[in-house]
Parts: sequence; C-alpha cells; structure tokens
Amino acid sequence: MKLKTKLFFSYFILILLSGIALFWLIVEIRQLTTSLRTHVSKDVRSIIEISQQLQILEDLNTAYILVFIPGKTIRQKSAKLETTLNTFDKNWLQLKKTMQANFSNGVLDRVLNRIYLFVYSWFDLLRPKENLYENEIHDLNERVDVVWGKINRDIRQSLRYLRQNRAADARYLRDVRVKSELQSLRQLLATLNHQLGKRGIVKLNEMARIARKTQFVIIGTAILMVLLSIIVALFVSWRLTRPIPALKDAVNKVAIQNFDIRIKQKSNDEIGELAEAFEQMSRRLKETEAYKSAMLSQFTHEMKSPLGSIKQATHLLENSLGGKINTEQSRFLAIIKGNNENLQKMITNILHSASYEGGRIKLYYKPMDIVLLIKQVLIYLSPMIQEKRIEVRMQFSAAKVQCEMDEDKMKEVVQNLISNAVKFSDAGTTIDISVKEKFPLVILEIKDQGIGIPLKELPYVFERMYRAANAKKISVKGTGLGLYIVSQIVRAHGGKIDLESVEGQGTRFRLTIPRSKRIAEEGGWLT
Ligand SMILES: Nc1ncnc2c1ncn2[C@@H]1O[C@H](COP(=O)(O)OP(=O)(O)OP(=O)(O)O)[C@@H](O)[C@H]1O
Ligand SMILES: [Mg+2]
Repeated sequence: MKLKTKLFFSYFILILLSGIALFWLIVEIRQLTTSLRTHVSKDVRSIIEISQQLQILEDLNTAYILVFIPGKTIRQKSAKLETTLNTFDKNWLQLKKTMQANFSNGVLDRVLNRIYLFVYSWFDLLRPKENLYENEIHDLNERVDVVWGKINRDIRQSLRYLRQNRAADARYLRDVRVKSELQSLRQLLATLNHQLGKRGIVKLNEMARIARKTQFVIIGTAILMVLLSIIVALFVSWRLTRPIPALKDAVNKVAIQNFDIRIKQKSNDEIGELAEAFEQMSRRLKETEAYKSAMLSQFTHEMKSPLGSIKQATHLLENSLGGKINTEQSRFLAIIKGNNENLQKMITNILHSASYEGGRIKLYYKPMDIVLLIKQVLIYLSPMIQEKRIEVRMQFSAAKVQCEMDEDKMKEVVQNLISNAVKFSDAGTTIDISVKEKFPLVILEIKDQGIGIPLKELPYVFERMYRAANAKKISVKGTGLGLYIVSQIVRAHGGKIDLESVEGQGTRFRLTIPRSKRIAEEGGWLT
C-alpha cells in the first residue's frame, strides 16, 4: 500500500471516530431535549386543561340550576345547558388524549430515539422506570368517564321531565342524583390534577437523572476519543517508521564500507522500495569495491619494481658512480630519494592492507624486546621528529620488556602510531610513549598533544582509507590505511586498542597485547 494511501486511511479512521463520537453526543442531547419537551409539557398541558374542565363544570352547574327557575321557555333555558354539556364532552375527550398521548416527534427524533434505546438496551442503563402514577391516572380516567356518563344521562333526563311538565320528577333527579354526581366529578378531577402533578415531579426527577448521565457520557466520550486518537496516532507512526531504523543501520554500514546489507523488515510502501533500492545499490558498491581492490593491488604490485630501480639508481648517483655530482644535484637527488621512499611506503601500506583484508594475517612469532623495538622505530623516525622539534618522553616499566610477537609487524604498528602522533601534532609539542607489563599482558601507550579526532569520527578511524575531516584540512599526506593495518595486526596477536581523543587537545592510543602466542591462545583472545 502506498504511503499516501496509508496516511489517508489513518486520517480517515480518526475522522470516522470523531464523527461517531459527535453523532452520539447529538443523539444524547436530542434525546434529552425531546423527552423534556414530550413528558413535562404533556403533564403541564393536562393540568391546565383540567382546571378549564373544572370551570366548565361550574358553568354546567349554574346552567342546570337556571333551568329550574321559572321564566323563559324550557327550550330557551336548556340551550345554554346543552352547549355546556357538549363543551365538557369535547374537552374531556381532548384531555384524555393529552394525558395518554405519545407526542409524535419528527422522523429524525424517532430514528435517533430507536438508536438510543437500542444502544442502551445493551448496557441495561435506561430501563424506562415504572411510573407508579400511570395506573392510578388510568383508573381515574375511567371513573371520570363513568360519572360523566351518569351526569350527562341524568341532566338530559331532567330536561325531558321538564319538557313533559314533570317538574317534581326533574327536581327529584337533580337533588337525589345530579347534585352528588357533580360533586364526585369535581373531586375526581381534583384528584386527577393532583396525580398529574405528582407524575410530573417523578418525570422531572427522571429527566434530571438522564441529564446527569448525559453529562457523564459526554465527558466519557471526550476522554475515549482522546485515548483512541492517541492509540491510532501511535500505531500509525509506529507502522510507518518501523523500517527506518533498519534503513539507518544500513546507511551507517555503507558509510564504513560494509556492503553486506540485508534489510529484513521491508514494508510494502515507498520506504520498502527505498530499502530494496538501497540493497541493490550496496550490492553494486560491493562489486565495484572488489574490482577497485583488485585493480589497486595489481597496480601497486606493478609499481614496486620501477620504484626499486629508482631507489637503486639514486643510490648509485649519490655515491658518485655516474660521475661527480655538485651540491645542487645532490639536493635534487635527496628530493627524488625522499619522494621515492614515500611512494614505496604508501605502496607497502596498500599491499599490506589488501593482504590483511578479511583477517588473513600470517604471523611469524619470535622472542623480542618491545623497548628495543620502540627505540629502533624512533631512530628511524628521528628526521621527522627533529624537523618538528617534538620532544619524546619515554617511560618503560623495565629496561627490557621481553615478549613473543611478530617483530616486523609490530614494528609496522609502532611506526604507524608514532608517525601519526608526529604527523598530527604541532611543532614543539610532546609525545609520551610508555610500556607497562601487566602479566600476562603488555600495555603500550602513545599519547600526543596534536589536533585530536572529532568525537563523532572516532568509531571510523580504524576503517580502511578513513581520514578524519580535521586531518584532511591540514594538508597532511596519508592514505588512511595506517590504523587499519595497526588494528588488523594487533587483533591477529589477540590484543585490543583503546582510543581516547579530544579534538584540539590530543590523542592517546593504548594497546593491550598478550605477551606470547601461547598466552593469547590460552586466554581465548585469538578470534
Ligand atoms: N595521533 C593522531 N592525532 C590525530 N588524528 C589521528 C591520529 N592518528 C590517527 N588520526 C586520524 O585517523 C585517521 C586515520 O589514520 P591512519 O593512520 O589510518 O591514516 P593516515 O595517517 O591519514 O594515512 P597513512 O597512515 O595511511 O599514511 C587520520 O587520517 C587522522 O584523521
Ligand atoms: Mg597513519
């Protein structure tokens, strides 16, 4: 999957999660407002309508009494009574509807309500509370129906008696039945009013409970959203950046010329493609490097004999074998000789480093005195030491430090380290050389007050052909092979090198080498 697609999906998931959370908050709040509107307004409206009914009942009573007072014709007197009866009837039907009605909300609210109940039925949180007053109100309704039926019937009967001039029967009906019926209807309506009020309070409490729950749900959803977003973000960044450390390791390996690269975790996006391309590139580099090494060793080999001839010829000329030479010519010969020596040294280094590659070093152990070896090297290097007026201080734990090593190779080691110390030091500074015996090991230290090595380059100076940036800057010649050769020889002897350096202050190399081959083998130092 492409990086772009992966990022798109992660953002999509985050947006989807936020969308769901937002939707749920809307459901909660809508639910709260609709139930408030539905329940509370239903009861308030019913209470108002009951007071109106009580008023109508009083009007009915007055109209009924007026029918019995002599005066106008019975038709005229009963008209008002009929209207009041009908009004009460109509209003009562309406009131019953109001009391029982489930307010019809909009389609959206109905859908949201369904979702709300479905979700909460899972949590068993919002079981509708049994409302104790519901049944009582229902009973009262039925009783009002019965009593109102009787009143309706008896008043109409009274009217019929009055039309038939049976005033005594009508009056009897009024006094014995209608009066008490009206009274009980009044009481029933008042009780209904009371119960509706109580039901309203229960519902308000219920609303308050839902409001509190909504508050928790909102806070909970917000916290959950933050946590989910963190988890998604962490997961996505982990997935995307997972192959990068492996890639970085690979780059570091190539930087120190190790071209054997296998990147295990390859993602299926552009980073994976990059890793694949990088592997291919390092394979090509390895081939090129092998070709380069082969070419170089062949070339240096070919250079050896002409350089030998130059050396010989110079020597002969110097000794006046080609005729007497003047001072000027002698100076030129010295230049030729010096440069020839440099070239030969460089070629020896190249050839040695090529032959040491992959740890293929054959050592010829023999007893030797390391103190003597150092002194010989110092004599050999004395021209460059004197040229820079460098003071060499020596500290040996004994006049002779006897050991068993490959003398020629150890000479190469000491020579490389001391010449480095001289090369990278300013004129007039000091070099400290010390040898200590710490049975069964020999410790050799070479410390200078030179330019030092930048901290971040320390791990690389033992690599083939590596030269630190500050060394390159000060136009000191070199191939960067010396320390590589040193490290290979020391390792072949079962020893190790510690390096301490502070840029601008100086460098200290510390070699710890087993005294003999037997010790190196017994100590398990030979790898
Ligand atoms: N004593 C030292 N002081 C400061 N830098 C050093 C010292 N020894 C080594 N280095 C750094 O380590 C690098 C590698 O050393 P190395 O001896 O391999 O190469 P070189 O001296 O530059 O060349 P070569 O030894 O092949 O002539 C040097 O180029 C230099 O940057
Ligand atoms: Mg060197």
